[in-house]
Amino acid sequence: MSVATEDTNAVVIERDAPLSTWFGIGGRADRLARPRSIEDLLRCVRLDPALRVLGDGANLLVHDEGVSELVVCLSDPRWERTEIDQRTGRVVAGAGVSLPRLIKATIEAGLSGLEGLGGIPATVGGAVIMNAGGRFGQIGDAVQSVHAVDRAGIEVVRDRREIRFEYRRSGLHELILTSVEFMLSPSDPAALRQRHKEVMEYKTGSQPLSADSAGCVFKNPLLASDLEGIGARGERVSAGRLIDLAGCKGLSVGGASVSERHGNFIVTSRGCLAADVLELMERVRARVADRFGVMIEPEIVVWRRDR
Ligand code: EPU
Repeated sequence: MSVATEDTNAVVIERDAPLSTWFGIGGRADRLARPRSIEDLLRCVRLDPALRVLGDGANLLVHDEGVSELVVCLSDPRWERTEIDQRTGRVVAGAGVSLPRLIKATIEAGLSGLEGLGGIPATVGGAVIMNAGGRFGQIGDAVQSVHAVDRAGIEVVRDRREIRFEYRRSGLHELILTSVEFMLSPSDPAALRQRHKEVMEYKTGSQPLSADSAGCVFKNPLLASDLEGIGARGERVSAGRLIDLAGCKGLSVGGASVSERHGNFIVTSRGCLAADVLELMERVRARVADRFGVMIEPEIVVWRRDR
């Protein structure tokens, strides 16, 4: 592997860089930067306003041919700082902070609001952009404001009243988040620990958390009409359950297969291509549409060359 680097106005650009994702597969970045300051980040935006941000890679599939836009990774300690005010419940976390680590720290500080998000691998920035969550809550509910840089290279702050958090959406994807302020409520650490443990037990019991996967692949669909035995019109139902009932568990293409544990997880094995995952997703969608008349939409983000 040859990785040439060059220094452009103090931002080191790595060429042909591997991109680390939870799927453990996929293409590389033509250019990758790890800015160490806001000034560095602004230089990156000037270099390529269409840059992409790589978080923990937990919900990301990179197409096999890789991507040409500059990829920015906020993995420097500059983006991994956390401030916790136990008295007021105000927590400020850098966009690069690991969500599981932040959850642990807030539980130990006796602050409630994030404990239901246990078992979601993400950076704080990625989790807020996607409004990560599940049956035990969504991160948007705890967000007070976000600090970011826009594509014109301007530093901006968005208050929670200006953010439209919806199911797995924040409307913030055009921004490059730098830090997030949360407002949590003082609570008993022992009770929070117990709650977190229950959430983790539920997930390890029903999801293949140790296999190479990016969590749920599809969004849970809203039913457009009543579906007997599944749900009523307007209800959001589990895509995993629909996939399971459509008989897709174990279905595979190349090195990608639908998990036997939870229908909405695709697990990958050695030599798997991103194209295998994409083809398998199409087959699963077609089967679910055939069986239930419901089109399920991807929850994972797919990066393709030149968009
Ligand atoms: N079910 C099946 N078969 C399956 C999967 C699920 O019958 O293969 C049934 C379960 O037994 C349960 C129901 O469907 O009765 C709902 O399942 P689950 O509790 O796993 O919830 P989900 O709606 O499938 C959502 C989130 C998950 C999150 C869980 C728990 C989405 C797309 N998925 O799944 O999030 O972990 O709730 O909070 O919103 C993710 O976003 O990556 C993710 C995995």
